[in-house]
Amino acid sequence: MLNRRQFNQYLLSLPLFSGLVANRVQSANYNFHGVDLPKIGMGTWITFDQNPAQVNLGKYVDILNVFFAAGGRMIDSSPMYGAAQQLLGAVLPKADNTDLFAATKVWIPGKQMGIDQMNQSIKSWGLQHMDLMFVHNLLDWETHLPTLRDWRHQGKIKFIGVTTSHGRRHAELLDVMQNEKLDFVQFTYNINDREAEHRLLPMAADKGIKVIINRPFQTGGLFRRVANKPLPDWAVEIQCVNWAQFFLKFVISHPAVTCAIPATSQVEHMRENMQALKGSLPDHAMRQEMVQYFES
Ligand SMILES: NC(=O)c1ccc[n+]([C@@H]2O[C@H](COP(=O)([O-])OP(=O)(O)OC[C@H]3O[C@@H](n4cnc5c(N)ncnc54)[C@H](OP(=O)(O)O)[C@@H]3O)[C@@H](O)[C@H]2O)c1
Repeated sequence: MLNRRQFNQYLLSLPLFSGLVANRVQSANYNFHGVDLPKIGMGTWITFDQNPAQVNLGKYVDILNVFFAAGGRMIDSSPMYGAAQQLLGAVLPKADNTDLFAATKVWIPGKQMGIDQMNQSIKSWGLQHMDLMFVHNLLDWETHLPTLRDWRHQGKIKFIGVTTSHGRRHAELLDVMQNEKLDFVQFTYNINDREAEHRLLPMAADKGIKVIINRPFQTGGLFRRVANKPLPDWAVEIQCVNWAQFFLKFVISHPAVTCAIPATSQVEHMRENMQALKGSLPDHAMRQEMVQYFES
């Protein structure tokens, strides 16, 4: 007699069944003003901070091509990330960019300084407009949000939001989410840092604010934590063959999460990360098992 887990493994071993599951792309499908975002996007902090004149652009074009070919859309950057926006501007026209959803941030105090910085970012990316503009780390958000609303009204951006990370300033973020009308919010959530489950994620769901998750691998720290640990046998039930999928599926299976933005400078890692769009996602019980196993 097979138990549930053995039965699932048996089903997955059947070519027809595993093929069907593996090819099903999970998408947010939230039809937010007609925008459909796959649940895995990409970040650019550190990984894309390279002077385009001094690197092999082909490597970054390859990373983008793997991303777009797997259905990726959201790329997140910021003027805080050194040369990342310039590198994007150099490689995006060379990539098979099917459906970019461009997100960047304003990260400077002052109204006119913010406007100048946002215009410079759009120019660096080589675009005419951005899809999403965040206020980075809530810096001078009271000044910037009225500008962002004005830009959205003019059609220079489509969506507005604010970010934070590393569990910082959650009280202030909650306050902004409570009192301001935002399209998106971005903060940290991963299998090791689950603080956002208590108030941020429920508030976002309650207010209908779309959630972008930064640091889904805790800036790589999660891989170091499991360096000598095998994936659990039951990871096969959610079609995970590597830790990247395991970590990302944990994040994107939270019902309030719209999209996670893992960053990588490696083509093979991008391939692994995009595999998290394939197969099924863990249910509530399995999410708890994932945490227990990670912490054991
Ligand atoms: N306040 C904010 O607005 C804020 C703050 C933090 C982050 N962010 C955004 O969120 C993005 C993601 O956060 P993050 O960059 O801190 O960290 P992350 O995505 O959690 O982790 C990135 C690290 O994981 C490694 N990695 C990626 N894929 C891997 C794989 N398949 N196997 C093994 N290692 C892998 C990368 O190294 P390799 O290059 O070797 O793959 C890199 O060192 C940022 O890039 C940025 O766009 C925003």
